[in-house]
Amino acid sequence: MADHFPPNINMEVPSAARMYDYLLGGKDNFEVDRKACDVLLERVPEILPLANDNRAYLARAAEYAAAQGLEQFLDLGAGLPTANNTHHAAQRANPRARVVYVDNDPIVLAHGRALITNSGETAFLLADLRDTEEIFSAPETRRLIDRDMPTALMLVALLHCLPDSDDPFGLVRPIIDSLPSGSCLIYSHMVSDDPATREWVTDRVLSYGTPWGRVRSPEEAAVIFEGLDLVSPWNDGRDEGPRLVDCATWRHPDRNPAVRPADPNVKLWEMAGVAFKP
Ligand SMILES: C[S@@+](CC[C@H](N)C(=O)[O-])C[C@H]1O[C@@H](n2cnc3c(N)ncnc32)[C@H](O)[C@@H]1O
Repeated sequence: MADHFPPNINMEVPSAARMYDYLLGGKDNFEVDRKACDVLLERVPEILPLANDNRAYLARAAEYAAAQGLEQFLDLGAGLPTANNTHHAAQRANPRARVVYVDNDPIVLAHGRALITNSGETAFLLADLRDTEEIFSAPETRRLIDRDMPTALMLVALLHCLPDSDDPFGLVRPIIDSLPSGSCLIYSHMVSDDPATREWVTDRVLSYGTPWGRVRSPEEAAVIFEGLDLVSPWNDGRDEGPRLVDCATWRHPDRNPAVRPADPNVKLWEMAGVAFKP
């Protein structure tokens, strides 16, 4: 498989994008990524459904946002392409939806450009969330994102990849502030209400040398929604109960929204919410 990859890809250290790809059943990963995941799976097997539920949430949320009238999507930390990518989901609701995919892992760019050929409505950008200026000044972004128009900002399973020393929530605040009214945030973050699980998973991933952040508590991960209006997580839009929920249940056709997995043995989940800017 190694011959399919450009030379700037580090095959010795697991990467978040490739580990996630492995959990999703993809093929764009190496032995080192698979071994790293297998160690995690022994202690927190829920990480497997977590990854798959998160990816399904991403598609439901992108389709929902497009159905609400959003035409342009900035998908930060986009990950490796899979069968149901943001533009597939968004274009189901609005064929004119445009997506800029951004990721800082070169493997994502290599596979993204190969698999999602630019149709005029999508573009791939190799850039880092920590360099907002580069993201917004890139020709791809300028071509597809009109900064005066409402934008769907997607931060799905991204901010737990950034350590506190990068101030992830402070980093994205100016981006949110710069978006016009009617823009929306599509968000998820790996969380646990158990300090021991937070610490174990964080230490384990960092021990691989993988650039990563940490598992946060649901309260810590929720601060991003300050000043935004969270939408109902119910599939029928009813105004009932909490709006920040386990991604597996957000606007799921057959599941009621729940703030955490029902099984108390499940300690790790992806907290999700979609919010509009007033
Ligand atoms: C867990 S994956 C999530 C992929 C996709 N958003 C999803 O939820 O299906 C996290 C992605 O964020 C990317 N990433 C991590 N840190 C980043 C950064 N500082 N800037 C841009 N992308 C980053 C990783 O390379 C990886 O592809």
